[in-house]
Amino acid sequence: MSKPAVLKLDDKEFEFPTIEGVEDEKAVDFRTLRSVSGYVSFDEGYGNTGSCQSEITFIDGEIGILRYRGIPIEQLAEKSDFLESSYMILYGDLPNQTQLDAFRASIRDNTPVSPLMGAALKGFPSDSPPMGMLGAMLSALSCYSPELATNDRAKDLENFDQAASTAIAQTATAAALAYRVTKGLEGNQPDPSLSFHDNFLHMMFSEPGKAYEAIPEVSRALDLMLLLHADHEQNCSTSTVRMVASGGANLFASVAAGVGALWGPAHGGANMAVIKMLEEIKASGDDGSKFIEEAKSGKRLMGFGHRVYKNFDPRAKIIGQACDNLLNKLDIDDPCLDIARHLEQAALADDYFISRNLYPNVDFYSGIVLRALGIPADMFTVMFAIGRMPGWVANWREIAMHPKMKINRPRQIYQGPALRDYVPLESRT
Ligand code: ACO
Repeated sequence: MSKPAVLKLDDKEFEFPTIEGVEDEKAVDFRTLRSVSGYVSFDEGYGNTGSCQSEITFIDGEIGILRYRGIPIEQLAEKSDFLESSYMILYGDLPNQTQLDAFRASIRDNTPVSPLMGAALKGFPSDSPPMGMLGAMLSALSCYSPELATNDRAKDLENFDQAASTAIAQTATAAALAYRVTKGLEGNQPDPSLSFHDNFLHMMFSEPGKAYEAIPEVSRALDLMLLLHADHEQNCSTSTVRMVASGGANLFASVAAGVGALWGPAHGGANMAVIKMLEEIKASGDDGSKFIEEAKSGKRLMGFGHRVYKNFDPRAKIIGQACDNLLNKLDIDDPCLDIARHLEQAALADDYFISRNLYPNVDFYSGIVLRALGIPADMFTVMFAIGRMPGWVANWREIAMHPKMKINRPRQIYQGPALRDYVPLESRT
């Protein structure tokens, strides 16, 4: 039993229990603070708030550690694949062969979207942002598969396996369809003989009479990219999913909210923003040196910095290496990669970035990898969402299975006008 914390407020002392995680993370349990003292804890941006106790992912941002269900990301990147890791993220342990085969089959069988959903996607304007279409389609899954989305926790948990496979598989299908809509092209039916990643590339790029030809390096890079994004603890979108789930909402409604949260440039939208930044630097004739100076006075060096990692993002190390390998194998000479390398070296040697612990994050290189795979920039954040889906789904499940789950409902410190009277319209100036 850990020692309690003692807090002195208004000359009174209050005791609060402390909690320790399995990796020695320590927290003060302030849940009774307001009822015993009248104070609430204030932590705008939640930089110092443990919002839950979770068993899914561990990050030590000070030394750059990321583990899914205890297993280091480096081992998973080398030995596992996206679907196997997804199973583990969802259910807690690596699957045996029977479990893995059944999971892969369930993903494959749930890949086709309802014809009505396909038709609805076609109704979007061709200049729609793919993230907007994806969010709408995930939300609409509760209309196309209402039996999986009842908002009755017990029933939704009973149907969890089917709902989870549907969310993971149909995110990829809806993403490929959204891409085809923006190109004014007919959608491609999934090919059940293909792996998850090759089927996605087929749904994106096959043309009538010309099936997409899988290139092993491309397939592996895509699978790795998805695996590296599969979960990341209580980030903005995952916390959003948990927030929505805490109100009892079904899985599809919860993950659709995650898509909205992911969209912003400070979060999943950063991969698009990195490429835009690199293209702008290239167009201006700068090799990155001028931009580094500007980034010290207000401009953001996109793909750098992280709320939790105050050291190298381990995913950035893996994807940076994969990026080099892929471009070499495909014989692609991307000037943006040279600029990115130069920015990285310059930033890592610069006091501004060193003193603020700003290191490359996963998005710094993922955009270059995605571009090499032929994925257009406006699809980058959608790719992130396909990868993150298992993490969102596992976090939804953790909330739904929590025996004493309370609705997430933070407090605020009100700073608006004090009590005042209503002024009739004719008396207002
Ligand atoms: N470029 C230049 N300066 C930066 C950057 C950056 N990318 N990131 C942070 N800083 C500076 C801030 O200006 C601030 O400086 P100051 O102390 O002089 O005011 C200091 O570093 C701390 O920055 P905060 O914004 O307070 O850090 P926070 O933890 O809130 O933000 C975030 C983290 C949002 C990721 C930020 O680093 C950022 O905007 N990075 C660029 C966008 C990006 O790459 N996002 C992807 C994140 S990873 C992911 O979601 C997959």
